[in-house]
Amino acid sequence: MTLSARITGSGSYLPAKVLTNKDLEGIVDTTEDWIYSRSGIRQRHIAAEGEFTSDLALAASREALRSAGRAPSDVDLIVVATTTADQVFPSTACLLQQRLGIHGCPAFDVQAVCAGFLYALDVVYRYVATGASRCALVVGAETFSRILNWEDRTTCVLFGDGAGAMVIEASESPGILSSHIHADGAFKDLLCVPVGVSTAYQEVLDGRAYTEMQGKEVFRWAVSTLGDAVIEILDANGIEKGEIDWLVPHQANIRIIKAIAKRLDLSMDQVVVTIDKHGNTSAASVPLAFDTAVRDGRIRSGDQVIFEAFGGGFTWGSMLVKI
Ligand code: ACO
Repeated sequence: MTLSARITGSGSYLPAKVLTNKDLEGIVDTTEDWIYSRSGIRQRHIAAEGEFTSDLALAASREALRSAGRAPSDVDLIVVATTTADQVFPSTACLLQQRLGIHGCPAFDVQAVCAGFLYALDVVYRYVATGASRCALVVGAETFSRILNWEDRTTCVLFGDGAGAMVIEASESPGILSSHIHADGAFKDLLCVPVGVSTAYQEVLDGRAYTEMQGKEVFRWAVSTLGDAVIEILDANGIEKGEIDWLVPHQANIRIIKAIAKRLDLSMDQVVVTIDKHGNTSAASVPLAFDTAVRDGRIRSGDQVIFEAFGGGFTWGSMLVKI
């Protein structure tokens, strides 16, 4: 029998330091109003010096395990989605495993930038559905502030740091109903950090590996691709728009989020929006938004939820989940 992969717990973590749009007026040539009106962002959290992606991942994971009523020793698979790993290697998943005191289970990172969490959850879903894992920990964690050029107003105002985690367990009742992930490397230059350890080691060493984005083009592709992705998931499951209780979207831009809600005929009351407080936390954004809405009581057991995300690559995906 094929098992379901159910979300049995979630957790999240945001660094203490808050950087407001007003603060950014003192860093680059921008205004509070420009940032909010173009993106929906009012503030973002920034990791402290000496605070790394694995620290954020650890805090979110502990919360997720606590809410699932699980101990670290129950975990038999760890997958971390991140663009901003602590080290070239070992993977952030291995660093997290060590800090949780877990030994022996598989642990690896997945890199799909802002769609990374959906990629990681897709992998975990397939492990659990085939019986290869019974209790998995899946995390999206980013210190995206470390790959921003704080002199480039077109990018540095958009991103923030954070982490979200879920515990996924094998179950006989429905959980993740279907998952659809995609990529098209033809768009590699529209949204990227164009250097890495193989091409420009010195720039990486000097902390000059910066995010570059052709915002208008990315915006256009995100709206059309994500619009198609949410329709793909309805069609794949033979369900109508009215059967969706919640949309938990990647938080890149409130205008993109509203466009996707419209494709689904959802009112904004059925959309989890955290972009105003978190900014774009890349791979952390979907699990952070999910955990926020579970903890404040909006998303409840039995609800039918769509996750969607779009990121550099391009990479994108959508998932239908019964909570
Ligand atoms: N403050 C003030 N002015 C600014 C700023 C700023 N921070 N940034 C740009 N401007 C200026 C531009 O220079 C431009 O000036 P000009 O007309 O004199 O040339 C003007 O504002 C308009 O800029 P646009 O780029 O046209 O603004 P737009 O309305 O497209 O909004 C934005 C920009 C917010 C970046 C939007 O295009 C967007 O959200 N794009 C998609 C982002 C996204 O979804 N990313 C995907 C996920 S991220 C990942 O995977 C890592």
